[in-house]
Parts: sequence; structure tokens; C-alpha cells
Amino acid sequence: MRKNIVAGNWKMNTTLEEGVELANEINGLLKGKKANCDVVICVPFTHLVAVKGVIDEGVMGLGAENCSEHEKGAYTGEVSAAMVKSTGADHVILGHSERRQYFGENNEQLLAKTKLALANGLTPIFCVGEVLEERENGSFNEVVKGQVEALFSLEPADFAKIIIAYEPVWAIGTGKTATAEQAQDMHAHIRSVIAEKYGKELADNTSILYGGSCKPTNAKELFAKPDVDGGLIGGAALKADSFMGIIEAFD
Ligand code: PGA
Repeated sequence: MRKNIVAGNWKMNTTLEEGVELANEINGLLKGKKANCDVVICVPFTHLVAVKGVIDEGVMGLGAENCSEHEKGAYTGEVSAAMVKSTGADHVILGHSERRQYFGENNEQLLAKTKLALANGLTPIFCVGEVLEERENGSFNEVVKGQVEALFSLEPADFAKIIIAYEPVWAIGTGKTATAEQAQDMHAHIRSVIAEKYGKELADNTSILYGGSCKPTNAKELFAKPDVDGGLIGGAALKADSFMGIIEAFD
């Protein structure tokens, strides 16, 4: 069966020293009290090696927040999937709405990134989600379907390795969370889209996380929904106690 997962997305926050301290704190808390879900922290590229050094094997996973769509070569400033993997990381967030919106990442690039991540043994946390206008004009199911379908040229065995994160853009960092019902409806929709292409078994085994102003106070209600398999957490992942509070929603 699919896994429950709480993943942190630190975005462009923390200096190296602050990041290592935060990772160390979370690791210590998780060692003291085993989580009832998988935990992953996704951190800036600059922090990966040092953070890997302070987290214990089996306590939590480590991810990057992006990787290049190119394998290697003359792409100044880019970081490849192979480089991410070589730090000891095991996950990578791809297609976050901030990457789509501010850096113009499109479906074709995201498919290339996903293929490279998989080829290098990284688990993609692939983000989808509609903007406010699409929520309001009712096109949100179609929009998210299109974002998921961007990966449908993958072989089933590869698609099966992907974690999906549904993050309505209007809920990210705004304090405005989707209701648990809105999240459940979309997650069930995404699962049916996957089932249509890859079959029910693969769809049932795909973890679909919710992201967007998820906090200790609303995590339990969201995660209680049958198709919500955990969360991708931004702001609340930057403090060990609030991140732990969300993990504990699975207790
Ligand atoms: P938020 O961000 O929890 O701060 O809303 C979630 C995300 O963007 O992954």
C-alpha cells in the first residue's frame, strides 16, 4: 500500500549554519519518537552535504528543491540530478508552482527533469496545482489533469516511483488552506486520472501529498481524508516544533 509522507520544503530560507541546526533538531526529535509516516526534508543545494552529515540513516530522507533538465555540461549555475544524488540525497521536488511561475518551467522541461531524477535514483516529489483564477473559473480539475498527464509518457515502473504533491497555488504561503473536502476531491481526481492511464493498483499505490498553508492545527483533518497521504510543508517546516506537530498528525 502507499506510504504516508510528510516532506518539508525549506525554499530559499536558512543560512548553512541555521539549516544544519534545524536538521539536527528535527533528527533528534525523530530519534526520540519514531514517526508514523516517512519524513523527508528538502533543502537548498548548498545545504545538502552538511545536512546529510547530521541526519541518521532511516530517520528521515533528504531532498533537493529542484534539479536541471540537462544531464551535464555547459549550463552555468545549474545543478544536475547526478550531482544531487552524489550528495547523499534521495528525493527532489520538481515542478513546484514557484518554479513554474517565476522560472517559466513547462511540462516538457519537467518531464526531462523527472526522467533524469529517476535515472539517477532520486524520488521525484512532483508538484501540481491550479492558480486562484482557475479555482474560481472552475477549470481546476482540467488544469491539474494536464499537469499530471505531462508525465504519462513514462513507463509504469517509472511512474510508480513518483510522489505527487497537490498544492493549490492560492493556498501556498497565504495562510489560506484548501478545505479538507477540496483537498480530498482533488486527490481523488488525481488518483482517477492516474488509474485511467496506469490502472487502479498503481494509482492506489501512489502517495499524493497536500501542500499549501498546512499547519499542526489543520494537518490532522487534511490527513484524515482517504486520498490525502501526507503533506508538503513550506513555512511550517522551518521550525522543528511545528514540523513535528504536522508529523504527529499521523499518531
Ligand atoms: P506553505 O508552502 O506550507 O508555506 O504554504 C508549501 C509549499 O510551497 O510547498
